[in-house]
Amino acid sequence: MELSGKRIALGVTGGIAAYKAADLVRQLIKQGASVQVAMTESATRFVTPITFQALSGNSVFVDQWDQRISNNMAHIQFSREADALLIAPASANFIAKVAHGIADDLLSTLTLARTCPLLVAPAMNMQMWENPATQRNVATLRGDGITLLGPARGEQACGDHGYGRMLEPGEIVEDMIAFFQPKRLKGKKVLITAGPTFEAIDPVRGITNLSSGKMGFAIAKAAREAGACVTLLCGPVSQLTPRGVKRIDVTSALEMHATALGLAPSQDVFIGVAAVADYRPKTVAKNKVKKDGNAPLPIELVQNPDILAEVAALPTPPLCVGFSAESEKLAEHAQKKRLAKKIPLIVGNLVQDGFGGDTNTMIFFDDHGETPLPPGRKIDLARLLVERIAQLLGQR
Ligand code: PMT
Repeated sequence: MELSGKRIALGVTGGIAAYKAADLVRQLIKQGASVQVAMTESATRFVTPITFQALSGNSVFVDQWDQRISNNMAHIQFSREADALLIAPASANFIAKVAHGIADDLLSTLTLARTCPLLVAPAMNMQMWENPATQRNVATLRGDGITLLGPARGEQACGDHGYGRMLEPGEIVEDMIAFFQPKRLKGKKVLITAGPTFEAIDPVRGITNLSSGKMGFAIAKAAREAGACVTLLCGPVSQLTPRGVKRIDVTSALEMHATALGLAPSQDVFIGVAAVADYRPKTVAKNKVKKDGNAPLPIELVQNPDILAEVAALPTPPLCVGFSAESEKLAEHAQKKRLAKKIPLIVGNLVQDGFGGDTNTMIFFDDHGETPLPPGRKIDLARLLVERIAQLLGQR
């Protein structure tokens, strides 16, 4: 329920993507939001107001002269009671009206009269989107501080393939959740390592660990929500990349090391969440290793470079945050690692809590001691970590 208590005014304009707005209402409500819908006349040709009324549980407004609103002040009341006005789908025509301040029907009038933030999810044919007139209008919207959600690239209702497709309802909801998060890392560049590494023994075997990548991906999502430009450097995982995050896939610790050290000097923050293998086989067999009777198979291991320690030792390092997963003596081991790597903050978690699941129990360790966080979902803990990192950046 990430939108609990939020009041969303949803404007639906005419276009085939209007049918997706019905699912959007359902998903917004599922996240705890209350939704009040207004439609343009042409939107009602695609989906009836009754559909939105049934899904939102609220009356739907179409007509500027609606008798249900006292003093015909629908355009004033509508946004005054909302935390955000979302137009989805927003047609090229509607975007043009917003850009030029035209108010010739209920939805365009209440958009002009809004007192809350406006978010616009365009949906149109790719030629209409690429038309210089639309691009000028979109630039005007951005200049006016209006948030554009999409459009996406893909197959369109008309059969064309290109930019102009409305974001999927789930993506819009994700962007709405992000929109309401405080922008504590606005403009900051954040590099995060996540997941395990895989150290090859031969072409088909290797040494790895049980990190799923979930903690690192949650932090990437939280940092992005907070306005950061996020790069997620991950070992082999099967997680979906959070929206707006740049993802770089690597396999081994050496690859992660080379990529991280290449990127780190230009970053404001480096967060090492990856469970990087401390050791790798000294040599990788060219062919699949064969069993030799009952003889044991000795594998000589050599140490991998310590990525976090090397980033922290750069001449002008980003703010470095580490993680420490322990099966015993959490405080002792975590603080020892923090001091050895010369980093201001390390996040301790127990192996049995941290690996694999959607929840975790975390403790911050710094120069002043330890701060336990309430156990919870990885995304909620990630948001608390982002808050702590923003404080540390402020003290730099
Ligand atoms: O991915 P999940 O399933 O969600 O699990 C999350 C997690 C448990 C893996 C995560 O929360 C976590 O604790 N990650 C750190 C695991 C660990 O104990 O790492 P470490 O003690 O080997 O390393 C300490 C720190 O140095 C870490 O920040 C690590 O990324 C970094 N490191 C370690 C070795 C190395 N060669 N290079 C490094 O950068």
